[in-house]
Amino acid sequence: MKKNDVRRWLKADGGAFLRNIGIKDGQDVLDFGCGNGHYTIPALKVVGGKGKVYAAEKEKGSRDKLAKKARAYGLRNLKVIDTKGGLNTGLKEGALDAVLLYDVLHYFDKRGRRFLFREVFMALKAGGILSVYPKHCKGDEPLWNLRNIDSRGIRGEIERERFRFVSTLETELMHDEGCCRGVILNFRRQKLSASRGNLGEKFHGH
Ligand SMILES: C[S@@+](CC[C@H](N)C(=O)[O-])C[C@H]1O[C@@H](n2cnc3c(N)ncnc32)[C@H](O)[C@@H]1O
Repeated sequence: MKKNDVRRWLKADGGAFLRNIGIKDGQDVLDFGCGNGHYTIPALKVVGGKGKVYAAEKEKGSRDKLAKKARAYGLRNLKVIDTKGGLNTGLKEGALDAVLLYDVLHYFDKRGRRFLFREVFMALKAGGILSVYPKHCKGDEPLWNLRNIDSRGIRGEIERERFRFVSTLETELMHDEGCCRGVILNFRRQKLSASRGNLGEKFHGH
């Protein structure tokens, strides 16, 4: 059953979901904390040969699995980024049309999340899409650093970092190895000058 979920998601549903949040052919997208690529593979298909998907992941095993999967699908526009557990992507200012932060925020405390939102702000074009799936927060499945915060709190943190809230989308998603209902928060980067922020030293994650 779960194998079928993943197959269906990678074949069709994942792409339809990403198009629904506004990702288009030819765009450049960052999937930060991409894991095995349940969102990266559909994103590669949506952006096509003229776009690129940057997949940032700290675990070598996941990066290797994803690269192998992309090759098997004949998808060549994947750029893998090893963050080494930090939050610096190495991307240039305004390089991206969209960023996915799916099921990854619980790895960071509030300061880490602020650092990440600033990195994303810097790398996105003005008006670019930030799409967030805040899993493991209050009322969901308490775990790690989101146990004291709900999606309203996450929304506030992101808005304070100069993103404009656009919509909430409750929909079918992929989580770990199966489909589930989930809530996505969508934002647009405001048209203000970019900066990497001034949070001092490099951030070290878990
Ligand atoms: C729960 S998985 C979610 C994977 C994928 N986004 C999804 O929704 O299917 C979170 C991933 O974020 C990665 N991660 C955590 N901190 C990271 C960091 N600082 N840089 C890159 N990846 C990170 C973890 O290694 C893990 O693979």
